[in-house]
Formats: sequence, structure tokens, C-alpha cells
Amino acid sequence: MIRFENISVKYTLKSKQEVEAVRGVTLEIGEGEIFGIVGTSGAGKSTLLRTINLLQRPTDGRILIGGNDITHLRGESLRQLRLTTGMIFQHFNLIHNKTVFDNIAFAMRSAGKSKSEIERRVPEVLELVGLLDKAKSYPSNLSGGQKQRVGIARSIANDPQILLCDEPTSALDMETTQSILDLLKEINNRLKITTVIISHEMDVIKKICDKVAVMSKGEVVETGDVFRIFAVPEHPFTKQLVNSTLDLELPRKLNENRTKRLFKLVYRGERAEEPVISETVRKFPVDMNILHGKIEYIAEQPIGVLILNLEGAKESVDSAVSYLKTRVAEVEELHA
Ligand SMILES: Nc1ncnc2c1ncn2[C@@H]1O[C@H](COP(=O)(O)OP(=O)(O)OP(=O)(O)O)[C@@H](O)[C@H]1O
Ligand SMILES: [Mg+2]
Repeated sequence: MIRFENISVKYTLKSKQEVEAVRGVTLEIGEGEIFGIVGTSGAGKSTLLRTINLLQRPTDGRILIGGNDITHLRGESLRQLRLTTGMIFQHFNLIHNKTVFDNIAFAMRSAGKSKSEIERRVPEVLELVGLLDKAKSYPSNLSGGQKQRVGIARSIANDPQILLCDEPTSALDMETTQSILDLLKEINNRLKITTVIISHEMDVIKKICDKVAVMSKGEVVETGDVFRIFAVPEHPFTKQLVNSTLDLELPRKLNENRTKRLFKLVYRGERAEEPVISETVRKFPVDMNILHGKIEYIAEQPIGVLILNLEGAKESVDSAVSYLKTRVAEVEELHA
């Protein structure tokens, strides 16, 4: 659907100095996907996103949408590209002196839509985002989450094929973030809009994306299915991002004055819902105590760790461990 071929973007500063914000990015985003771009501040995420609707022209490389090279579009065809590409922003970018209705109507009028089309469509998108009763309100009377809902309604009013989201939840609290992500997912599902979402938080990516590209210093260092990226991150920068959100480290307290044998079980998608623990205790004469654990579901697959203490005769514990190794992704004995 969207293909970046060796895209680079350079900014020339007033001092004539050049900043290479994006460097040699080659990436494919599939039709209907929710695709995440994650990275720390200044990584080049916004710059890369804005090349999709040519708010930012690449200095080098090509961008294809549905197989068509859009890199050099101008005039009417550029206008058409922008119309088929909705966008939402971290700070909502609503027009303050227009009502919710008029904010959306304005975007539709700019796209040449008729009055009757606008009268029909605005309530429809407001209903979709759950704000039909706020049509006559002004943005200043809405909460952050409601403002973003207006932003979303506006972005889909002209039936775009692509939705670009630049940090859509960074200004929102956790609960509101979740409801906005749920809404974006529902819209993607219902309207089959290819959605590209930028975030500096792996948590956001984890909750909503199918695939993710990890950006660092202008380059995409790793791309893959969200589950794969979380389960087996390859690039050191990705590992660091994943560890900071999954918190797989052993709590320090468990490591102090330790006399017990501790084992770390790692789950990566397989069999986490099977009764591995109780089966092990039934099969082998060992006592087991769960000391720490965190299992999350990413793309509906479990991922996480359990820290166990196993007690019993050495050979019983060893047999239990061998059995566990056949049932979960990894078992490692933790040495004090
Ligand atoms: N208009 C501009 N002129 C000059 N330099 C720019 C411009 N926009 C961005 N940059 C520089 O390009 C680099 C990438 O910026 P960009 O905004 O794309 O990063 P980002 O990953 O979106 O960061 P953030 O998470 O802070 O939004 C940064 O070094 C930034 O300072
Ligand atoms: Mg940005």
C-alpha cells in the first residue's frame, strides 16, 4: 500500500548547516494495517510520516502509494493525495473559534464537498466517535480526549484511504489514551483505513499496532510484527525499548540473601494458558512457589516471565526443570 524506497530527508538550517532527519529508509506498509513507528525524540518519526502526504518532500528516494509514485506530485494531484490522507495530531489542531460541527465542515468544504453532503456526513462521523451531542460545542469546552475525537472525526470525514497519526495520545492520560486507541482500532476495522501511528511509547505500539518500525537517529533499525519485536528484539536499541516497557528484570529484593534455587520461565506466545505449573508439581516430587511474574498479551499472544522457587531432592528438581523446558520458551536457573 505505502512503500518507502530509500527515503532521505535533509533540512537546511539558517546557518546553511544540513540536518539529515531521515536516512535511507526502505519500508512497506500493507493495506489495512495499523503500522507503528516508534523511536525517541528527534529520531525522525514525524519527518518520515509527513512524507506520506508530502507535507515534507523527501530529498532522496521514492514513495509509492498503491503502486503509484507520488514523490513529485504537484497541483491538483497533490491536492487529491492530501484529501485521501487524513491526519491527526498530538495537540489536536482544531480551530478554536469554530464549533465541533464547523471544524469538520471546514475540512469537507476545503475538499469541495457540497452543503448537503456536509449536513449528512458530519453527524455520521460525530456519531462514529461518540460525540453527536457535542456538535454545537466549542473546542475550549471539551476534554483532551473529546478534542482528539473531533480530530479523528475530521480526519475521516472525507473518506481517506490512509490515516496518519502523529503522537495522537501523547497529551492524554492513560485511561483516555486507551479509549482513543480503541477508537482508532475500531475505525481501522470498520473502514479498512491503512493507519500509520507514531509514538515514542512502546506501550501504545503494543496495544494497537500489527507491525512496527523502530527508528533511531534517522534510520529504521528494525521492522517486524509487533509480537516478534517484543518477543525477540534484535537490534540493541529495540531491546532497550522493549525492556523498558516489559520490565522483565528480577526484583532486586529477590536476589539479596538468597539460599533458594530460583528459576526464570520465559513465555513467548506458546502455551501460556496451559496448566504447566500445576502439571509439573503433579508429575515431580517438588514444591513450587511463584515469587514474581508478569505476563502480558501482545497481538493476543502471551509474553512474559515467571520467577519460581523449586524445592526438593536435586534430581527431582532437575527433572522438573527438564520438563518445564519442553513446555515454555526458556527456563534459566538464576544464580545469586
Ligand atoms: N523544520 C525543520 N527544520 C530543521 N530541522 C528540523 C525540522 N524539523 C525537524 N528537524 C530536525 O530533524 C530531526 C528529526 O525531527 P522529527 O521531528 O522528525 O523527529 P521526531 O522523531 O518526530 O521527534 P519527536 O518525538 O520529538 O516529535 C531532529 O533533529 C529535528 O531537530
Ligand atoms: Mg515528532
